[in-house]
Amino acid sequence: MDQNLGWWVRVALDGWRDRPGPRYRRIAASVVSAVERGLATTGDRLPPERSLADALRVSRGTVVRAFEELTAAGVVNRVQGSGTFVRATPGWTDTPKENPASTLLRRQMDLGGEAIDLSQAVPAGVDHLPAVAGLDLLAGVTGHGLHPAGIPELRTAIAEYLGEHLRLPTVPEQVIVTSGVQHALALVATAVVAAGRTVITGCPTHGGLAGALAGRGGRILGVPADELGIDAHAARHAAAHVPAPVLYVEPGGSDPTGAVLSRSRRQALLHVARRSGASVVENLAQANLDLRPGAEAVVPLAAEDESVIVVGSLSKVLWAGLRVGWVRSPAPLCGHLLRLRSAHDRAPSVPAQILATRLLRAVDDRWLNGLRAALRERRDLLLALLQRHLPAWHVEPPASGLALWATLPVTDSETYAHLAARYGAIVAPGATHCVDRRHHNGVRLSFAESPHVLEAAVDRLAAAWEHHTRDLAASR
Ligand SMILES: Cc1ncc(COP(=O)(O)O)c(C=O)c1O
Repeated sequence: MDQNLGWWVRVALDGWRDRPGPRYRRIAASVVSAVERGLATTGDRLPPERSLADALRVSRGTVVRAFEELTAAGVVNRVQGSGTFVRATPGWTDTPKENPASTLLRRQMDLGGEAIDLSQAVPAGVDHLPAVAGLDLLAGVTGHGLHPAGIPELRTAIAEYLGEHLRLPTVPEQVIVTSGVQHALALVATAVVAAGRTVITGCPTHGGLAGALAGRGGRILGVPADELGIDAHAARHAAAHVPAPVLYVEPGGSDPTGAVLSRSRRQALLHVARRSGASVVENLAQANLDLRPGAEAVVPLAAEDESVIVVGSLSKVLWAGLRVGWVRSPAPLCGHLLRLRSAHDRAPSVPAQILATRLLRAVDDRWLNGLRAALRERRDLLLALLQRHLPAWHVEPPASGLALWATLPVTDSETYAHLAARYGAIVAPGATHCVDRRHHNGVRLSFAESPHVLEAAVDRLAAAWEHHTRDLAASR
């Protein structure tokens, strides 16, 4: 139902001026809050820009900017000639009540860390800590160390890294530091996958996707993927059959095949998303590990459409043990994500973030080229070893990443993977990466190990394979 201007100004947006941040963001945040509180629902029309601007006593440009943010975040739809409407698609999930301590932490964050914070009953700094080796990492650190979106230095370093190395101009305010991609995906799934919503992915797919969605009431729909990534035609057909799905993509290197999405497929997928009202979630964890000589990092979908939600991680390029990843999201969604995060995690670890900031700042093209050259050699070594010792396996050389996908002449690789573990080599069986039951015959092998470890691993895999084929022959 449409409400009049007075209702919007006095009820739905009441108190907008007291919110933090620039005016357009305060207005956008108030609209988000009205939607979250059920005051404004699907199809409701927002007041025209000019009348709302007059009523709120701001410039029209401020309201236009607020509406642009809301559009990018998928909260509203702007229909040429008709107006701006609360989106008729499942967008965000309901926000649970925020952990009150986190509300206070966010207040500090919104004030730019300037206020004296008496709200948290934890030590106010690091000066009292016992003197142990390694504490120099915290030199200069002040305050209680609770930064719900991450320490400002790391948010800035990630924003710069995305801009400089992943072709995705980003501002620090868009970045939320997480404990890796797995945490980022789970958080995003909580925010956008309401019960009944479908997530479309190419299959085989990222092994962590199903786990991130578990318990949300959404469902995963696998569509074919090949050496060029997710099949955009198949994604279009799938998206046409479900209301406003979520489209999951890994443009710069798909797990587990290492496929890099071509420009035309990226464009086609964006088109699919726009036509079907899909939210796009893209994982850039492998985006600058393209091993094809001279290849540039692919342009992320988010660089062409600000509504795309991006997740990423340092696990692939630096070290998984850092447990540092991020979400880069449209601004209004950031607040929603932080409220959701507060239910189970107040803030990421400061020492890990300081180390991550330093490491990220040390990453340059020279270092990345060296990393890619080393990975290329290891990939080629593993390919050669598999060809020599396991010729029955089919392997497409991966274009990107740290792993390859081998197809075995069996229907299900699970038993083989168990046997291989008994021979001392652990591999990810196909079922880990499959949501359509058609890729249970694969295994994913990492080639990130050193050459002598890869040689030993293939010896073990080959011995286990011989055992397995003997067992299979005996059972026929
Ligand atoms: C596609 C993809 N993204 C991200 C990760 C890393 O996840 P995390 O950042 O949680 O360590 C992996 C790990 O294998 C992966 O395959």
